[in-house]
Amino acid sequence: MRRAGARDASIAKKKSGVHNVRQHIERGETMAYIFLDNRMVTDSEARISVFDHGFLYGDGVYETMRTYDQVVFMREQHLERLSRSAAFIRLKVPPDDFVAEAVRQTLAANGLTDAYVRITVSRGKGPLGLDPDLCPEPTFVVFAQEFRRYPESWYRDGVRLVLAGTRRNPVDAVNPRIKSLNFLNNILAKIEAKDRGALEAVMLNEGGYIAEGTISNIFFMQEGILRTPSLDAGILDGITRALVISLARRNGIRVEEGLFLPEDLLQATEVFYTNTTSEIMPVSMIDQRPFVVGEATRFLHRLYREEVVKYVEAFRR
Ligand SMILES: Cc1ncc(COP(=O)(O)O)c(C=O)c1O
Repeated sequence: MRRAGARDASIAKKKSGVHNVRQHIERGETMAYIFLDNRMVTDSEARISVFDHGFLYGDGVYETMRTYDQVVFMREQHLERLSRSAAFIRLKVPPDDFVAEAVRQTLAANGLTDAYVRITVSRGKGPLGLDPDLCPEPTFVVFAQEFRRYPESWYRDGVRLVLAGTRRNPVDAVNPRIKSLNFLNNILAKIEAKDRGALEAVMLNEGGYIAEGTISNIFFMQEGILRTPSLDAGILDGITRALVISLARRNGIRVEEGLFLPEDLLQATEVFYTNTTSEIMPVSMIDQRPFVVGEATRFLHRLYREEVVKYVEAFRR
């Protein structure tokens, strides 16, 4: 039997841990409690091997989620995509209820309300070599950080994009549908964006059609139609993308998914990109071509935020 004193000490330790979390956040430091494999550890205890194949080869998958008022938005869709990404590379991920519980515990331990949550599953530790069977157990990590909102001015005025020279991986190379740890393709495009003073880069596929951003899906208004590259352009099936398409259709905006050229994008009347953390981000410039933040973008963002509120109300326990 545990002694009462020991229990008090453990509660005190836990409380001081939570206090430490706040101090970390106030100091602008990263996260404090991390779910690693099958338990919660502090960030200084969270260690993975240098022989982890995620580190050695980018062999693994991940998901980024956002919570609003303690509710993980579109949780089922993210867990489903995690499983799908893992299946593509024949990686074992823990069952959905285990992952969901790990996320819940991580948010609770860190006392977070509006958070950025990342789930990472790598092939795990093993001897050198590409054979996935060298790694008996995947490494599973969940961490969460307070969500730092992007500046309001970005939503009001839009952000700058460039058309990158770096092409998106072909579907029959590393399929962009796999949300993988192998991010060099996108990092190369991001470097181009940074070099040219932009926030995000639009990548074309090998056929020269618009694919997606480095961390986002691309939408544009042209001839009163909302256009976006179809999945067969070779893109990640963004969860925000799917919601925006559905919201647009339900609210009388015609949507066309297809193969589009850079000229189409440059002739658009409005452009925005989507992802879990940005929601709908208006674009003010692509290369030297300016855009206004238009009515359709604002309307869709309003609908998106209403959807978040409905979701949070429905899923709050
Ligand atoms: C390459 C890429 N495309 C699109 C997206 C948008 O996906 P979601 O809306 O599911 O966040 C992301 C998200 O990080 C991404 O990395």
